[in-house]
Amino acid sequence: MKLEGYGPEEESLGKVYDSRLIKRLGEYLKPYRLHILLAIILLILASLAQLAGPYLTKIAIDNHIKNKDIPGLFGIVLLFIAALFLHFILQYFQIYIMQWVGQKTMYDLRMKIYAHIQHLGLAFFDKNPVGRLVTRATSDVQALNELFTSGVVSIFGDIITLIGIFAVMFYLNWKLALISMIVLPLIFMSSIIFRIKVRKSFRAIRTRVAKLNAFLQEHITGMWVVQSFAAEKNTFDKFAFINRDLRNHHLKAVFYFATFFPVVEILGAVSLALIIWYGGGQIIKGTLTFGALVAFIQYADRFFYPIRDLSEKYNILQQAMASSERIFRLLDERPDIKEPDMPRTVDRVLGGIRFENVHFAYKDEDWVLKDVNLNIKPGERIAIVGATGSGKTSLVSLLLRFYEFQKGDIYLDGVSIKEINIKSYRQDFALVLQDIFMFSGDIARNIRLGEKSITDERIIQSLKTVGADGFVKKLDEGINFILMERGANLSVGQRQLLAFARALAYDPKILILDEATSSVDTKTEILIQKALEKLLSGRTSIVIAHRLSTIKSSDRIIVMHKGSIKEEGTHSDLLALGGIYRRLYQLQYKDQEIAGKVA
Ligand SMILES: Nc1ncnc2c1ncn2[C@@H]1O[C@H](COP(=O)(O)OP(=O)(O)O)[C@@H](O)[C@H]1O
Ligand SMILES: [Mg+2]
Repeated sequence: MKLEGYGPEEESLGKVYDSRLIKRLGEYLKPYRLHILLAIILLILASLAQLAGPYLTKIAIDNHIKNKDIPGLFGIVLLFIAALFLHFILQYFQIYIMQWVGQKTMYDLRMKIYAHIQHLGLAFFDKNPVGRLVTRATSDVQALNELFTSGVVSIFGDIITLIGIFAVMFYLNWKLALISMIVLPLIFMSSIIFRIKVRKSFRAIRTRVAKLNAFLQEHITGMWVVQSFAAEKNTFDKFAFINRDLRNHHLKAVFYFATFFPVVEILGAVSLALIIWYGGGQIIKGTLTFGALVAFIQYADRFFYPIRDLSEKYNILQQAMASSERIFRLLDERPDIKEPDMPRTVDRVLGGIRFENVHFAYKDEDWVLKDVNLNIKPGERIAIVGATGSGKTSLVSLLLRFYEFQKGDIYLDGVSIKEINIKSYRQDFALVLQDIFMFSGDIARNIRLGEKSITDERIIQSLKTVGADGFVKKLDEGINFILMERGANLSVGQRQLLAFARALAYDPKILILDEATSSVDTKTEILIQKALEKLLSGRTSIVIAHRLSTIKSSDRIIVMHKGSIKEEGTHSDLLALGGIYRRLYQLQYKDQEIAGKVA
């Protein structure tokens, strides 16, 4: 089985050390550089404190136990405890500071990522599955955090520990030190193999996790389609496939881990055996003290842990690099809708719109809109009709600056919309779609969308104007009624009315309805029809609709066909013309009109 459509295999084989990435990461760490410095100093001190233990053991045995010196022994034991305690304190603060820096940086990064995502055009979201973007702001940021908490910084500690142990061992007895290092080449070899293998399998795991996320996200959102088409079995099989694939790659990684650690353990044991054998011989010959041997055994034990950890940290580092590369790639994604260098503002928007030779394609040269010319006067009511796929939605998407058009220009009150600040530009528009999106939260929040200037009174007034107050009143909590995700606990018609109220509360100069009245029953439609009258009066409006009632009362009807405007005029003009509109009318609208007359 093959799965298409969950994005390209996005995983780049991240380098372990990439100076460009490190530099950029450094930018995020800059505010905390003093903390990091302090943590590193603490770490070095902690590693040194750790070295003291075995050496004190040696002194205890050789200088005090052998000489039956109880008070001296007691003093050493106190020192031993002090060293341990010091190590504990230093480590405590080091870990705390590093975790603190990690959390702060993660917070900053998530803020930056979300702020950035908010500014990307819809074309970007067409290309990037939601699951993947969620992964960026969560798992990838988490992987970077590992870098701070258990990765790079503790590598410093490991290296210090290794060098320290090395030095003390050679100081105590260089021959025995060399003997205990015999297994080192083998350990290095196996850790290199381990690193390569694990790196590969981690990479494979990551792509599978991303796939699994994207699949789950999509299918849970589209669950009603799956269930209504009884496609559970099929989708389940697909899920099983992805899940199995993920498990198998995990198992591979498990295999490497399960092999590597025992191998290091065995090599460590071999080294220990060599120390006891050779060191024991030296004690018998009198060239080594008993205490030194005990210290050696302890040091050897501590020697292999950092080596083992280094391999694992290497992987953490590599994963963090790959994650940061992906995060930076997302942050480098430039919005395809460019904010003008010298943005203009239109002070008092009248609402005149002009399309001039506009050409638009979602991809390459597959023109979805071809040479569109349209002049809408302020306050004019325009209706757009045309077959599905003729480009109606695309046309209004361009007007709202969701996508960038390739040729021609669009003007608002004579100013090219490419020259106007996007945010202030969009404030003059309100858009109501067929597919109403509601956020979880109460009705007031969904109408206000965070705009503080919209008071509760205005919300209630808007609800009244569009005729939604009836059902809102019926709900016990009124405008504080909590909507579930996507407004699932309301009917489609109710959501539609709320969307109208939202548009009205924002009091836009230009109102766009894209098949907003297509999926409601007749009773709601009458309500909506009344609401529409109020909604449309005093503004420029573009209404894409099937309903004849909405179209008939408009000033002008635009007929789209395969991406071009083919006919325009009033209802009776177009009927008289006997072209596309007449045919559409006969096919689609006649029944409605008859139904309307009967009712
Ligand atoms: N996000 C998109 N990416 C690529 N192609 C698209 C996208 N949206 C629409 N299209 C294509 O553009 C054409 C016009 O679609 P649209 O403007 O939605 O038509 P209408 O609203 O009139 O039904 C269709 O052929 C459709 O397949
Ligand atoms: Mg459409």
